[in-house]
Amino acid sequence: MSRIVLGVSGGIAAYKACLLLRSFSEAGHDVTVVPTPNALAFIGEATWAALSGKPVHTGVFEAAHEVPHVRLGRQADLVVVAPATADLLARAAAGRADDLLSNVLLTATCPILMVPAMHTEMWLNPATQANVATLRSRGVAVMNPASGRLTGADSGPGRLPEPADIEQVALTLLADPRLAVAMASQDLAGRHVLISAGGTREALDPVRFVGNASSGRMGLALARAAAARGARVTVVAANLALPIPAGVDAVPVVSTAELAEAMLDHAAAADIVVMAAAPADFTPASPSEVKLKKSGDQGLRVDLVQTTDVLKALAGERPDGQVIVGFAAETASDPDELLRLGREKLARKGCQLLVLNDVSGGRIFGSSSTEVTIISGAGVVARLADDKSSVAHAILDAAVAVPTSARFSL
Ligand code: CTP
Repeated sequence: MSRIVLGVSGGIAAYKACLLLRSFSEAGHDVTVVPTPNALAFIGEATWAALSGKPVHTGVFEAAHEVPHVRLGRQADLVVVAPATADLLARAAAGRADDLLSNVLLTATCPILMVPAMHTEMWLNPATQANVATLRSRGVAVMNPASGRLTGADSGPGRLPEPADIEQVALTLLADPRLAVAMASQDLAGRHVLISAGGTREALDPVRFVGNASSGRMGLALARAAAARGARVTVVAANLALPIPAGVDAVPVVSTAELAEAMLDHAAAADIVVMAAAPADFTPASPSEVKLKKSGDQGLRVDLVQTTDVLKALAGERPDGQVIVGFAAETASDPDELLRLGREKLARKGCQLLVLNDVSGGRIFGSSSTEVTIISGAGVVARLADDKSSVAHAILDAAVAVPTSARFSL
């Protein structure tokens, strides 16, 4: 159980913070809500008190004997401010201490996550952008707002990201507080990251297919992590059951042939390409146009032909400077064998990094954590057993750190 302070400032998106509060509480965290006085104009104190099961204060002189402005910040494992209005960002950047929430921000020693929500003009205003830059330079993780319908008829960047996306980022920061630095640094700003996610389906007939157990969780964790670090992200999504994170472009595909086409189309403009999908290696040679019928008690023989090796094709067309990351699901007898298979695959595929998974006994698929070894041509870059979100950040760290000499073909 972690201690989370949920700061809420005065914007209409405050109602979405109720959902965030519920998910944090349901996940077993201890949540204290600290609204600004203006936030109470949107959602009243009774709602926050009932949902959190705790008294709610907005000023430093309420319950002063408990010195909440110091205690809350000091004891928190994470402070999340959602929504963070233009005014709250300005006050935080200026270091003001004029209500309980701004005091908590000054006393917190844990990671701070700000989730802005406001009208597009206010978000794009140089004053707000400068405040965000100041906060990021001090190590505060500031999510970029989502684009879409705002309060009135207008739409554009400024929407609060969905509570589920905020929760994912918050949980990542709780699991690994060092990631606040990566998020704050926006080290992928201006970069384009292309990721394939999910498992392809190869049609046998109009209703049946050959597929695999990939859930797409790893690819989506990578998309979320790259977007949090400021990248423009495109996900080529093969049959995902999970939603695409806010602010990420999606290109839906079904088969390996479609996935190959979409990846090769988008790769030319990408700085980092990650093949996290599990494309089927084989496809029925001649899928039936009509639904296959049983014939007596006879079985069915299907001829399969190999599909395109997308990773190899991408490596063959790699523009100078681009980093390509592949995955390798192996069933190895021991770690040395896993490494040997990985080295061979890295060389065979021609990518700069390979993320090795041991999938003996059906491990990894569909789970939220994973055990990986990241290798490059120079050897092992990192070994980690962690949740997929932290692993995603480690993969991006490794991609950013690929030396220039390995990015250019001679
Ligand atoms: N991959 C690909 N195109 C395919 C199959 C796999 O681009 N048709 C990519 C996967 O996305 C992954 C990497 O290749 O990044 C390795 O996948 P894996 O299934 O481990 O390797 P295979 O190519 O299938 O090699 P092998 O069957 O020889 O182990």
